[in-house]
Amino acid sequence: MKIGVFDSGLGGLTVVQAMTKVIKGAEIFYVADTKNAPYGEKTADQILQYSLNITQYLIHTYQIEALILACNTATSSAIKHLRQKYPSLIIIGTEPGIKPAIALTKTGNIGVLATPATLKGNKYQTLVNTLSSTKDVALFEQACPGLVEQIEKGDADSIETKLLLEKWLIPMREKNVDTIVLGCTHYPLVAHVIEDIMHSKVKLIQTGHAIARHLLLLTESKGHRNVGDLSVTIYVTGELQVYLIDNILDTYENLHKIVIPIA
Ligand code: DGL
Repeated sequence: MKIGVFDSGLGGLTVVQAMTKVIKGAEIFYVADTKNAPYGEKTADQILQYSLNITQYLIHTYQIEALILACNTATSSAIKHLRQKYPSLIIIGTEPGIKPAIALTKTGNIGVLATPATLKGNKYQTLVNTLSSTKDVALFEQACPGLVEQIEKGDADSIETKLLLEKWLIPMREKNVDTIVLGCTHYPLVAHVIEDIMHSKVKLIQTGHAIARHLLLLTESKGHRNVGDLSVTIYVTGELQVYLIDNILDTYENLHKIVIPIA
């Protein structure tokens, strides 16, 4: 099984890490589109174009059979179009985990951290409209411009990153938010900072494991036998702090990893 995965940078590796716990007997080709990052501050048309280019590259170069949009922002702008264009490809996107958050919250107050483009997108609005009527909850939505750049620079633990997060999270703490949706695949990489600011009294929702399980179900239904080694190859379109990969992908036994610029 050949699986293509992409994101604007390192964030989607949090999804790949979850995949490595579930998927066997597969080759994963990961594209970090750092040349065009951050996606969250681009227009929907630009994000669609980047997503189309990467998907075409993955199909033509590796004949992938499944594609994971390991990026909430790209999912919002491109998944519909990609599914129409490639109907026989298994395509799985990433969406903010509003549903599990609604199930878990005790105070009924939920924080949602995401990129500006994700929060603005119709897909997010539709998701919220459908789900928020199922239980009496209040959603505190917060766009986080600048956070992806901090993470990509390797500055997750810097004072600047903490100050950014404090500005967004202290109001949530004061509102008794007990569950926070990490609506961008980069944000699990600052989970420890978020927990610290929220005094650990918070559940953080990310969807990597759900994506991995969904992928397994869909690929098995198409004949994939989930046995054997897994390899992960990483491609990058621009700059990447390569040393940060080691902090995210911690399972190396069956992993093979190289970094090559696409163009
Ligand atoms: N990691 C991406 C997401 O899940 C996008 C980050 C960005 O480039 O803005 O939304």
